[in-house]
Amino acid sequence: MKKIALAIALTGLGSAALAAPDWSKAPAKKIPVFFPGPAGYEWVMTKSDHSAANQLIEKGRTCAYCHDEDAVEIGGKMVAAKPVGNAKAPLETNPPTGKLGAFPVSVQGSHDGKKMTLRFEFDAPKPSGGKKMDPKNDLKLTVMFDDNKVDGARQNGCWSTCHQDLRTMPDANDAAKTNPKAKALGWSDGATKYLKESRTALEMKTKPRGGWDKLKSDAEIDALLKEGKFMDLMQWKSGKGEKPVDGYVLDARHMEGGKSLLKAEGKKEGDKWVITFERSLSADGKGDHAITAGKPYNFGFAIHTDGAAARFHYVSLGYTFGLDDPKADVNIVKQ
Ligand code: HEC
Repeated sequence: MKKIALAIALTGLGSAALAAPDWSKAPAKKIPVFFPGPAGYEWVMTKSDHSAANQLIEKGRTCAYCHDEDAVEIGGKMVAAKPVGNAKAPLETNPPTGKLGAFPVSVQGSHDGKKMTLRFEFDAPKPSGGKKMDPKNDLKLTVMFDDNKVDGARQNGCWSTCHQDLRTMPDANDAAKTNPKAKALGWSDGATKYLKESRTALEMKTKPRGGWDKLKSDAEIDALLKEGKFMDLMQWKSGKGEKPVDGYVLDARHMEGGKSLLKAEGKKEGDKWVITFERSLSADGKGDHAITAGKPYNFGFAIHTDGAAARFHYVSLGYTFGLDDPKADVNIVKQ
């Protein structure tokens, strides 16, 4: 009896592998990723730095509305340490040597009613020969998405999580490492991404900007998590033996807790990288959003190339994905 059961189980696995999506049938969206320098949430939302801040606030424009085409130029200015925004002085004063400003990524999706796959394809920039900050992982790809509840995520993708006082950002505070909450929040190298919903206050203009230490109570954070006010996070890392990450961002960047991510794979063919995330449509763990038809999900993604770490990544602006939704930037079509 046991042998028969095993045979059936194996056949089951075989057919699951055969049902891999046909990517030639899935619509592809070309999305630019660029080196953003230290232009975090407080910078982009303050008019004296970024003249468009009032359009973001008053007109509800998305970042991509203005920058989908010129994201390449933003990255180019940042890596060249040129002045950006309204300032005369450069915002990025220490760009990694030889870093390319931007490159395009092709994003596709597919689902079968129970699970979905997101696929990212791109030519990674050539190694610059500089120091590897994360020698274990040549490449990391991280996706964050919101279920229409996080303030600003519809406009800015990941920017709701990116603040001037995160580790490696200009206003980072080393005190985060010794904060009583440091262990629980994973702050061994300093404060990590958070949402303003998790803080009692956020300083927008005066240095130090941000609100890393203005944490709300544990009960308030739990309530936000229950309301779905978090960014679901998935990460694939290229290092040998590294496991895919299924986490979320709310009071900090949590690198575990999720159970919806079934598989993440990446491979390099010549210069071309292909990375896929397979995820159940249901919310199966802590910090997992359920994905249902009939609404868009706001997402953004980051690519750490050439052993980069922390803020030294390429990022996309905010886009949407949706199940069988031709209006979404990435239409995840049933196959
Ligand atoms: C209404 C159009 C508009 C929107 C929306 C907009 N920007 Fe900008 N952005 C600009 C303009 C124009 C500049 C050029 C300098 C300036 O005026 O600040 C700029 C400059 C920048 C720069 C500095 C690079 C440079 O060329 O000066 C960054 C980084 C940036 N924007 C990021 C963002 C992000 C992130 C968002 C969304 C949260 C966003 N922008 C939304 C129009 C916009």
